[in-house]
Amino acid sequence: MAIVIRKTETLNNTSQIKEFLNKKGLSYDSFATPESLQTLLNQKGLNDAEKESVLTGLQYRFEELKEKYHYQARDLVVLHDEVPGISDMLAKFDKLHYHTDEEVRYIIDGSGVFGFIIEGEKFEVHVATGDFISIPQNTNHWFTLDEKKRIKAVRYFKDNSGWVPVYVDEKLLSVN
Ligand SMILES: [Fe+2]
Repeated sequence: MAIVIRKTETLNNTSQIKEFLNKKGLSYDSFATPESLQTLLNQKGLNDAEKESVLTGLQYRFEELKEKYHYQARDLVVLHDEVPGISDMLAKFDKLHYHTDEEVRYIIDGSGVFGFIIEGEKFEVHVATGDFISIPQNTNHWFTLDEKKRIKAVRYFKDNSGWVPVYVDEKLLSVN
């Protein structure tokens, strides 16, 4: 389950987190991962066939989200300390940026940290297995792994052509 760290408080209760993130324009939910996928999810890495099995096992979730949010596509990202080029990959997203499409993640193993600057407030959302988060287009954020250096996340897209980072200089924003 997620934890939200604000300057003034830490939120670790699902309904409080939902309420706070919704106020900031983000969607948040928490979905259990299916027991049938546990063996695969417990592996550190996954080959292409195994990734496909995981996505197939989560097809019901995709159908549900497609209906609700009109996503067109999904893929699976598997990151850990032995992925070649992992530092370069992370360096692309650990600086403040936004996208012209929504950034949607369903964390199915491991954990990571999203940071945001919204309405002048800087805060962190520590995500873990089961967390579903949707960051609207043009929302300033960054992402990094935590010390465990391991995450598996399904990405859902409405239009992946818009899904490139546009970097933002934090110094130009007024942050409380
Ligand atoms: Fe991003």
